[in-house]
Amino acid sequence: SVFENPKIASVNVAHRIAALIKSKQANNAPAVLGLATGVTPIAVYAELVRLHKEEGLSFKNVITFNLDEYYPMAPTAVQSYVTFMNENLFDHIDIDRNNVHIPDGTLALEDIPAFCLEYEKKIGDLGGLDIQILGIGRTGHIGFNEPGSAPNSGTRLVTLDDLTRRDAARDFGGKSFVPTKAITMGIGTIFKAREIILMAWSRKKASIIKKAVEGEISGDVPATYLQLSENVEFILDAPAASEL
Ligand code: GLP
Repeated sequence: SVFENPKIASVNVAHRIAALIKSKQANNAPAVLGLATGVTPIAVYAELVRLHKEEGLSFKNVITFNLDEYYPMAPTAVQSYVTFMNENLFDHIDIDRNNVHIPDGTLALEDIPAFCLEYEKKIGDLGGLDIQILGIGRTGHIGFNEPGSAPNSGTRLVTLDDLTRRDAARDFGGKSFVPTKAITMGIGTIFKAREIILMAWSRKKASIIKKAVEGEISGDVPATYLQLSENVEFILDAPAASEL
């Protein structure tokens, strides 16, 4: 769907997440959310915080799994996705911190495979993700699944694309300070979610959105794999949809 502006679109997405949380609460069940970082979902989180503060929406039954984290990365670093999630969402709501999962950027290399298997298992044991929200990188990555990612990939350590590191350079004060790797959920992990919402705003995303939605399905643009799922919705503003 194409919305008039990112704010209206983000409020719409937040209200869908809130509806899910409430319907799960009514059944005493957990709501399992797959969350994303980046500029794109910030207004969604802001609306969820507003719903908590002004309308009493509780997150006590919410369990979250973030898509990715840089590697290596200290959780306390300003650029970490832990810091991002705390500042934009978790510090402002009543979620139980034990229910928050973000890939661990402090692991020793040899411990990463076991951590990734455990991450998958935790999601699976809960019955899978109810909703996964996604942004999209200019390489066509979702999470940090860069070109070359396999459609059935699971959570794993990946190498970041040069373009991705250039786009992140501003946050790190130069590309050379951007980590070369990340731990990300796989395309296969994302695919198992019952509902996938990919959001993109602005003209800057128009050409990658055209490729993702209309382009040939290929590992060269990992987001094209979403064309194979029936549970995906693209939520766009008019500039991001302008090449469709
Ligand atoms: C990062 C994140 C992605 C995100 C992308 C786009 O690479 N790992 O999950 O979708 O950036 O970021 P932005 O929303 O800031 O454009």
